[in-house]
Amino acid sequence: MLRGMTPTSSWRAVPKTGLVIAIDGPAGAGKSTLAAALARRFRLPYLNTGLMYRALAAAALADRIDPEDGTALAARARSIRFALGSGEVPELLIDGRSPGRSLSAGEVEAVVSRVAGHPAVRAVMRAEQRSLGASGSVMEGRDIGTVVFPDAEVKFFLSALPSVRAGRRRRERGGVRAAGEAVAHRDALDARTNPPRPAPDAIVLDTTALGSAEVLARAVEVVESAGNRGGR
Ligand code: DC
Repeated sequence: MLRGMTPTSSWRAVPKTGLVIAIDGPAGAGKSTLAAALARRFRLPYLNTGLMYRALAAAALADRIDPEDGTALAARARSIRFALGSGEVPELLIDGRSPGRSLSAGEVEAVVSRVAGHPAVRAVMRAEQRSLGASGSVMEGRDIGTVVFPDAEVKFFLSALPSVRAGRRRRERGGVRAAGEAVAHRDALDARTNPPRPAPDAIVLDTTALGSAEVLARAVEVVESAGNRGGR
C-alpha cells in the first residue's frame, strides 16, 4: 500500500455502481494509450489521474506554494474543480476545461512527484477519483487498483523496460531527448514517493515487445472474459 493510503471512512463514501477498469503502472508503460482505447471500446468515461496531480503541481507553481507543504497543497487541491466532460467518451475537465499541454511542461514534471507524495493531497485526490469514476470508468494511475478502486472488476498493471518507456516518452514529446531522461529521473522520485505496485488480483502486462494493438487485444479479451464470468 502506498504511503498515506490507509483507507478511511470518507474514501468509501461514493459506492461503486458501474464497471471500473483500473490501469496502473510507471510512466511510459502504455497506460494512456490502452486506457483511452478501452474507454472507447466499452463506452466508459476515461480518467487520467496523473493529470489531476499535474494540475495541482501547476497550480502550486503558479501560486508559489512550497511543494513540501502538504497542508497548503491539499487545500489548493480542494479548490480545483475536477469533473467529467460530455460526449461518447467523457474525459477529465479541470476547472471546466480540458487539460492543456502545459501540464506536460518540464517545470511541472520536476515537482509533480513530490506534490503527489503527500498523504493529505492523496486523500483529496482519492475522494475525487472515487466520486468521478464510481458509476463506471477506465481509470489510469499508480494506485487505482490498490487504493482508489480495490473493488474494480478488472485491473491491469502495465510494465516495460525502462529504456523502452523512455523512448516512448521521447516520441510523445516530439523527439525531445530530455523527455526520455526526465522519465528516468521521475521514476526514481516516484519510486520513493508513489511506487506503482500491482494489486494482487491485477493482470500484469509487459508491453516491452508489444504494439498498442496487441496490448488492446489482450486487454479486451480479459475484460470480456471477466464479463462472461459474471459480476464484471
Ligand atoms: O501518469 P503521469 O506520469 O502523468 O503522473 C504524473 C505524476 O503523478 C507522477 O509523478 C506520479 C503521480 N501519480 C500518482 O502519484 N498517483 C496517480 N494515481 C497518478 C499519478
